[in-house]
Amino acid sequence: MRLRNMGFALAGFALVGFSTAALAEVSQGSIARGGKLYDKWYKVIGVEAPTVSHPLYPATNEKYAADPAANWRCKECHGWDGLGAAGAYATGSHASGIKGIEGAAGGDPAKVVELLRGGHLFGDKLSDQDLTDLANFVVYGQVDWSALVVDKKSTGDAANGQQVYETACVGCHGTDGKLPKDMPPLGSLTSNPWEVTHKVLNGQPGEAMPALRAIDHQVSADLVAYLATLPAQ
Ligand code: HEC
Ligand code: HEC
Repeated sequence: MRLRNMGFALAGFALVGFSTAALAEVSQGSIARGGKLYDKWYKVIGVEAPTVSHPLYPATNEKYAADPAANWRCKECHGWDGLGAAGAYATGSHASGIKGIEGAAGGDPAKVVELLRGGHLFGDKLSDQDLTDLANFVVYGQVDWSALVVDKKSTGDAANGQQVYETACVGCHGTDGKLPKDMPPLGSLTSNPWEVTHKVLNGQPGEAMPALRAIDHQVSADLVAYLATLPAQ
């Protein structure tokens, strides 16, 4: 199961000489925690957001260039899909023009740690464990979206997703996806299938929500397809 997941996750990146034995040794928990850090690292480690903008964020996007709590998040520069300027953030209010991280999939985690300590300036903000988890997410945890999202919609099987939802999610989110009350209804979020899939796979920063990382990515796609059928308000 585990090996099959990883093969699926990485299939799109045509990795040469990448042994499945190495994959088996990577902890899904580390990858999921890295995914949560990619989402909002300061929430995961329980510190205040930076108050000075990240120097790598381009001034051309005035809105987010003026918002350090946003522009220090990996997702703000590289996108929920990890494809940067070649993905969902190619245009629109979040466009940063920055390249994606997909080129680092299957690479050397130590090199990613080095990069994050260097020009990315995370050395004094994140611990060795945080940086390792992030690198594991970047190297082993990226999703091949081509199979899971087409025309901004999940390609999953909603009926199968319902079975999973009604066992794994309903206790916290309610039958109609309107719980907890301080959150937008789940049915209103699926116009961004990349973000929802990211949260289903990796969990929600700072919340007791499970990460389905160890389960086939197809199940996440099925869930997102089912969420799209729930009431949007
Ligand atoms: C303020 C914007 C910004 C933030 C925040 C940011 N990055 Fe980057 N990142 C960049 C830029 C700019 C590059 C260099 C792109 C280039 O070489 O053209 C880059 C490059 C990378 C690369 C190398 C991609 C490649 O194929 O060469 C990786 C991996 C990466 N970032 C991961 C991360 C991770 C993980 C985080 C969060 C901990 C993060 N980045 C946060 C701007 C950002
Ligand atoms: C133990 C409780 C719990 C379970 C089980 C759970 N979640 Fe969550 N989930 C939460 C909490 C708490 C939040 C954050 C709520 C907030 O931000 O106010 C959250 C947030 C989310 C978000 C992000 C919403 C946003 O605002 O971006 C999505 C998507 C989501 N959950 C989907 C799911 C799905 C799908 C499942 C089942 C696989 C699931 N959750 C299972 C507790 C749970």
